[in-house]
Amino acid sequence: MHSFRYRDGKLFCEDVDLSRAATEFGTPLYVYSAGTILDHYTRLNEALAPLDHLICYAVKANSNRAILKLLADAGAGFDIVSGGELFRAINAGANPQECTFAGVGKTRDEIEYALDHGVYSFNVESEAELELIDKIAAAKNLRAPIALRVNPDVDSHTHKYISTGSHENKFGIALSDAPAVYERAAKMRNIEIAGVQMHIGSQITDAGPFAAAIKKVAPLARDLKSKHGIKFFSIGGGMGIIYRRAIESGSGKWWHDHASESSAFSVRDYANAILPPLRDLGLRVLLEPGRFLVGNAGVLLTRILYIKSTAQKRFVIVDAGMNDLIRPALYQAWHQIVPVETGSGDSPLARRSNAKAASRHSSKPLDKVDIVGPVCESGDFFAIDREMPEVGQGDLLAVMSAGAYGFTMASNYNSRPLPAEAIVRGNELNLIRKRQSWKDLVRDEV
Ligand code: LLP
Repeated sequence: MHSFRYRDGKLFCEDVDLSRAATEFGTPLYVYSAGTILDHYTRLNEALAPLDHLICYAVKANSNRAILKLLADAGAGFDIVSGGELFRAINAGANPQECTFAGVGKTRDEIEYALDHGVYSFNVESEAELELIDKIAAAKNLRAPIALRVNPDVDSHTHKYISTGSHENKFGIALSDAPAVYERAAKMRNIEIAGVQMHIGSQITDAGPFAAAIKKVAPLARDLKSKHGIKFFSIGGGMGIIYRRAIESGSGKWWHDHASESSAFSVRDYANAILPPLRDLGLRVLLEPGRFLVGNAGVLLTRILYIKSTAQKRFVIVDAGMNDLIRPALYQAWHQIVPVETGSGDSPLARRSNAKAASRHSSKPLDKVDIVGPVCESGDFFAIDREMPEVGQGDLLAVMSAGAYGFTMASNYNSRPLPAEAIVRGNELNLIRKRQSWKDLVRDEV
């Protein structure tokens, strides 16, 4: 579920009118629904209740401390991939002992920092990394808890940039090589073998590949439990979300996308598929969802700067760009885009847009448009040939399902300040990150 609904032609996040958020904090603006995040966390947590488990939220999806705090308070642990993410998580109130440290390129400084804070596990991706962790732990007279990230070589049927569990990827250690590496690890004095880990990719909407990968790794997990007394099996993240959901509204059906994703990721299907192969292992199960918890909980609000028509195309030029949300440019990702005010009924937009329509060079409703940003790249688009209702200069649009890998992948490209972020809880609206200023852009240059 998500908490974005139309009321009288106006798009609300929970009980907050999104046009109010845009007026208060400006655009481009990310707005997150705390209720949606907590609902997703709770549903997943409850579905896994038959298992001893810990949900370690993948911080990379959305690392704003307000969101980390929300999840920490709900009982989540965290999956981090850098010293910076660990710093953020600790700063937001996370318990480092419930943080797992993933990533193929951990630096010495990061390993030291994580060891000093006693992370739950280092998810090790190579023998060279294992050796360095052992050496650093020895210098500190500590034992570093580790899990090897094994690569089960399954096809997760997702975009090639976000598929990680096949033998062609840089991630993990081949399943067949893992026993020997564990034997080596067992001889290292400052390494404690704590678990085994896998992650097969992201935006996976079918439970099948998860179950297949778990079944492939389960014999190793069983073996490691009896030989090395491992405590946990981390099955990674990757649960997909719906990007093509129609938003319910009394007026118009134009935003319904007919090529909608054939299957919604269902927590029940996921739990039904993964519980049986995990149940009798007798290990603590860790999960690392990112997108599933926050993806549908966020929108990017952007205002239309100009409408430009050429012989072939109509461009809706908005004030957000690929630097604010890079997913369409990078993965050809499809995000639903809707007006914040539909102009139905007696809404101010309806009155305004009637007046405006008369002054526009064409009063014909927009048909298929390209929704593009101001960045100097042809790849700077949010939608190509997208059917939209009539929209005009100054109107607000919401790019849906932008809560995951939106702000965290934003950049200052074209010297554009990073956007602001706000969170909604019921009828409360709070700024959780100020918009950067032009001064911020040059602050660190020497
Ligand atoms: N665990 C590990 C080891 C990961 O590499 C990832 C994501 C996750 C967990 C969380 O995956 P999730 O549950 O969010 O699918 N920027 C891309 C997604 C990159 C995912 C990278 N790894 C996108 O916007 O689609």
